[in-house]
Amino acid sequence: METREIIRKKRDGGKLHREEIESLLRGYLQGMVRDYQMAAFLMASFLKGLDDEETIWFTDIMVSTGKRLDLSEIPNPKVDKHSTGGVGDKVSIVLAPLLSAADVVVPMIAGRGLGHTGGTIDKLEAIPGFRTDLSLLELRNTLWETGVVISAQSEEIAPLDRRIYELRNATATVESIPLIASSIMSKKLAEGLNGLVLDVKTGKGAFMKTIEEAEQLARKMVEIGNASGVKTIALITDMDEPLGRAVGNSLEIRECINILKGREEPGLSDLILTLGAYMLVIAEEMVVFNENDDSVSFKDIEITDELLDAKRLKLQGLIDSGDALSKFVEMVESQGGNPEVVANPALMPVAKNILPVEAPEDGIVQEIDAEGIGRASVLLGAGRQRPDESIDHAAGIILNRKSSQEVKKGDFLAVLHYNDDRNLEAALKLVRESFRIGKEPPPERELIKKVIF
Ligand code: URA
Repeated sequence: METREIIRKKRDGGKLHREEIESLLRGYLQGMVRDYQMAAFLMASFLKGLDDEETIWFTDIMVSTGKRLDLSEIPNPKVDKHSTGGVGDKVSIVLAPLLSAADVVVPMIAGRGLGHTGGTIDKLEAIPGFRTDLSLLELRNTLWETGVVISAQSEEIAPLDRRIYELRNATATVESIPLIASSIMSKKLAEGLNGLVLDVKTGKGAFMKTIEEAEQLARKMVEIGNASGVKTIALITDMDEPLGRAVGNSLEIRECINILKGREEPGLSDLILTLGAYMLVIAEEMVVFNENDDSVSFKDIEITDELLDAKRLKLQGLIDSGDALSKFVEMVESQGGNPEVVANPALMPVAKNILPVEAPEDGIVQEIDAEGIGRASVLLGAGRQRPDESIDHAAGIILNRKSSQEVKKGDFLAVLHYNDDRNLEAALKLVRESFRIGKEPPPERELIKKVIF
């Protein structure tokens, strides 16, 4: 099948056959289809879309070109969480060890920064020695020993997503419902999961700017997950404003360590506990291991507020007792990282320079545009514009004020952390423009907008 004809068909809005998608994707993996052809195909798909059937084939072929983890001999429920991408979204780094402390096995395959959003893998690599390139065998062994792992796509697991993900980042083809759905679900379906909770972001800093688009994406992924035997629930959550106070790799790991030590961060802590509560509901109430073989079935239950509160309380208890932090240390050690970062976060890269951003007037912070902060943090070096670019793990932004907080003229709204000042002026301008200050308290923002089963 000629690659150029497949690209032309999608460019003209045609529907592809499964064989055409297969020929393109397998050809790309084998090096017969070039990066520039795949980039053209991605742009055509971005502009013309892939319908439901094409998206399912695309995902299925992405999964089948790699290996799948088989964790059926581990007698615990395996449940993961994945976000569609946000600014300051460090939830996975707290949730994985937290759920593992609750005896849920978490085999998390995560991604690097995409567009203006950060990536779990880049953040974890701020920890000296932390390996995110585990082989299939290492993943299995680590999961047997510690019950939790966070690693990247590899030549074995989701190899196509590894390459297409980088290409999408460099070609402005990220914000596409079928491409996001297939990217996320190809990783998740390779993990050998029983359950999955998806955090579908919507708002200024999300790839899905409107709740309608977010719902469409959520429904697509929930359908793919459930049809593949993985109990899948999606939460549509707010991404108008960055999550927490830190944006940038080492800075975000510091914030995660503080949360695991018991410090609460409004919004971020609530989201961690709520997503974790849904993961626990799946693991403890819905997954049923059949006695005679290693198959799994699901019990349909009503997820009440009382049930969610009980799960949140349990998770909070695991933070308060220090068990979740101990799991984090175990995870870091098992992946070759230096666990001393917990006591001494300065062992992670620290920027040589800081620059405070002052409030221009008295007032109340109305909003902080998450996309502006994300783009500023990429400009400071925390993210990449091209696949081969290295990132500066020390660079980023600390938000000293969040929305609804009062400021006086000259107070520090944020502090920029940087080593390279090439884009400093542009970053500073973006951060200034991202803060909107007014006189009246802004309306309260709803963190969880919708739950899709
Ligand atoms: N996360 C992913 O893994 N893929 C995307 O396309 C977006 C967010």
